[in-house]
Amino acid sequence: MAATMTLARPSLPEPSPEALALSERLAALVGGEIDAAGGWIGFDRYMELALYAPGLGYYAAGTRKFGSGPEGGDFVTAPEISPLFAGALAVQAAQVLAQTSPRIVEFGAGSGRLAADLLAALDERGVAVERYEIVEPSPDLRERQRALIADARVRWLEVPPEGVCGVMLANEVLDVMPVRLFVRRGEAVDERGVMLRGGALVFGTRPAERTLAEAVTEIESEVGRLPDGYGSEVGLAARGWMRSAAQWLEHGILLAIDYGFPRREYYHPQRLMGTLMCHYRHRSHADPLWLPGLNDITAHVDFSAMAQAAHDAGLDVLGYASQAHFLVNCGLLDAVGRAGTAQASGAAHRLVSEAEMGELFKVLAVGRGIDTPLLGFTRGDRTHTL
Ligand SMILES: C[S@@+](CC[C@H](N)C(=O)[O-])C[C@H]1O[C@@H](n2cnc3c(N)ncnc32)[C@H](O)[C@@H]1O
Repeated sequence: MAATMTLARPSLPEPSPEALALSERLAALVGGEIDAAGGWIGFDRYMELALYAPGLGYYAAGTRKFGSGPEGGDFVTAPEISPLFAGALAVQAAQVLAQTSPRIVEFGAGSGRLAADLLAALDERGVAVERYEIVEPSPDLRERQRALIADARVRWLEVPPEGVCGVMLANEVLDVMPVRLFVRRGEAVDERGVMLRGGALVFGTRPAERTLAEAVTEIESEVGRLPDGYGSEVGLAARGWMRSAAQWLEHGILLAIDYGFPRREYYHPQRLMGTLMCHYRHRSHADPLWLPGLNDITAHVDFSAMAQAAHDAGLDVLGYASQAHFLVNCGLLDAVGRAGTAQASGAAHRLVSEAEMGELFKVLAVGRGIDTPLLGFTRGDRTHTL
């Protein structure tokens, strides 16, 4: 273990005393793990605890995360912006469900909004869905989803699905999977993790062990040697998840929607500090050690790695496009025209504008046994960039 580093604490709205107490309990839990591990834990373990520690982690405690308006929240996702998003996904889902079985599996369903709106949109199109299954690790979010969705076709799975014929969906799920942090130092690679100094959580580095060093070497074999001092992250957990997802899918597609880039853009030499980002009450900041449990912690998705993991696990890469292209290919603009309201056109603008979600967010489709081109990638398919 060598140098330690602290980032300037962001100046953001003060949390309530209850929220602060929750965060202090989580920090104590993290501190206990650091002590038990001999003084240092990898950032991936820290992120896992900060987001998912039972009863304390950001996604596992009862605070409101999604949405805007008087009830607060920390960020807004596409399904929360407008049912137009689910309406467009329904077009893509319908095409695949017609060739497979009437089954949808959604991972990380958040508030449950996408599930409710997607089922409604498919019903409206006369597309039968017999099973809509949700895989949600957060007990708190499962309760919220149950309260929102009143539909007998929806079930919550305690274990991963098996033999899925149909459509699997993951909207903004890959970006909250724990990442490992690295720094290129001359000929060596260091790993950034978390340690304690004077009772406070601080970053600390140590030489990267083999798996991480090899992952960095693999990245550099594609993008070239990274500059000395270059720091970024590697989503090994997301790759593992993609390999597992390939085993769960028997016939159909998995749509992964998230913010991210192909590898060459992700590990661009000028992106010197990676993409780690925190969300707290609609503001972004860069200090994931600040008030653990009260912030969402995310990293962009390396879509080349996701496509490679899927391919290695036996899936076909069926399409990769910006969210804007995908939604427009799935008829978003026609839907706005039919709605004919300023609200609908405002929402569509947020979903497809380059300055908002349209370009940063991407849609990756991977699948098995699907031979017809997918509607969502008719124009603007960028699979060749992965
Ligand atoms: C940023 S939220 C997105 C929620 C929702 N999909 C939306 O778009 O509003 C991330 C969600 O992913 C869930 N999640 C995290 N890791 C997961 C995993 N390995 N499998 C399934 N869901 C996961 C979280 O609990 C949470 O529901």
